[in-house]
Amino acid sequence: MGAAPTAEYNFSLNEYFTKGSLTCLTEETIKNRVSPEFPLMLNIEPTNACNAKCYYCPREITAEKQGVHYMDKQLYKSIIDQITPDKLIMINYHKDGEPLMHPELPWMIRYAKEKNAAEILHLNTNGTLLRTDRAKAIVSAGIDDITVSIDAARESTYRDLKKIKNLEKVERGVRELIEYRDSIQGNTLIRVKIMEFDSVSSEEIEEFCYKWKDVADQVQVTGTHSWSNAIDGMEVTDGLPEHRFACLLLWYLMAVNSNGLVSKCNYDWDYSGQLGDAKTQSLRDIWQGHQAKIFRNAHLNGQWSCNNVCKNCVAWAGFKDMQGYLEQHKRFYR
Ligand SMILES: C[S@@+](CC[C@H](N)C(=O)[O-])C[C@H]1O[C@@H](n2cnc3c(N)ncnc32)[C@H](O)[C@@H]1O
Repeated sequence: MGAAPTAEYNFSLNEYFTKGSLTCLTEETIKNRVSPEFPLMLNIEPTNACNAKCYYCPREITAEKQGVHYMDKQLYKSIIDQITPDKLIMINYHKDGEPLMHPELPWMIRYAKEKNAAEILHLNTNGTLLRTDRAKAIVSAGIDDITVSIDAARESTYRDLKKIKNLEKVERGVRELIEYRDSIQGNTLIRVKIMEFDSVSSEEIEEFCYKWKDVADQVQVTGTHSWSNAIDGMEVTDGLPEHRFACLLLWYLMAVNSNGLVSKCNYDWDYSGQLGDAKTQSLRDIWQGHQAKIFRNAHLNGQWSCNNVCKNCVAWAGFKDMQGYLEQHKRFYR
């Protein structure tokens, strides 16, 4: 997301994505690929359960309000079956929770692979469960890309940020998973990530990069956002342009929560950006539906308070202003 200040570790995943982001597609990709029929990217949240309590994440408030859910297999199958092969650029298997806590995750990945559901199957994990058969099984099932949100190079920072112990176990998990991937000649890209903000010193970020540069396939340093001010006092390090413009995520991404409710994007931690329910509606109908059009229209008219999550969000800043282009494509918002 956004324009994080650390340029050195801002890479491009491939030609579809802007530098430093696994969420923001380039202007060219958007012009060539977006469709009023179906999104280009889906977040599918296997579960919103989590075994960490990261101070920069509002998941606990979400779980309190919405309950804790593990996505039902039938629902997952119906979601994948609605995807036309070769059309999706990426499925992200995460939103608010820790995906590796879902026992059926390997089956989920295998099913999506068999159906050729997306060019890239990716997930973010906190890495606590990497030393398990389940982690190995998602690699054997062919997951393309894993980002391990380690977020620290020192045990003390790790504990302060995540309210859990044992950074060393997570680090060992990453190394062992890379060894396993190599032993089966798998293709999964394994990346480690840290965030640049006031709780992590620049020396620690350097330590992190040094520790991982010859071990992981990629080292990513990102900025932070405040989940639209859900986290009091959270430093936002993603740079913001002076003038706000329509967020392009509304034109190419949807997020299916573990309970089946569909959110306009992965930042919708409080479900105020709900578009529909995948248990009772098709994804196509939701993408082309009334609520999605209301939010797109609101963004084209500068009504950022159209829902609580858009109000103070910074995700839009990772893109360019494409207002003229968006206005021409009326099927998205009329
Ligand atoms: C909400 S987590 C869920 C997936 C998984 N549990 C994990 O830890 O990676 C998804 C991603 O959001 C990132 N994240 C959480 N809070 C953030 C914030 N305030 N700013 C930027 N990124 C954040 C995490 O580091 C993680 O990479």
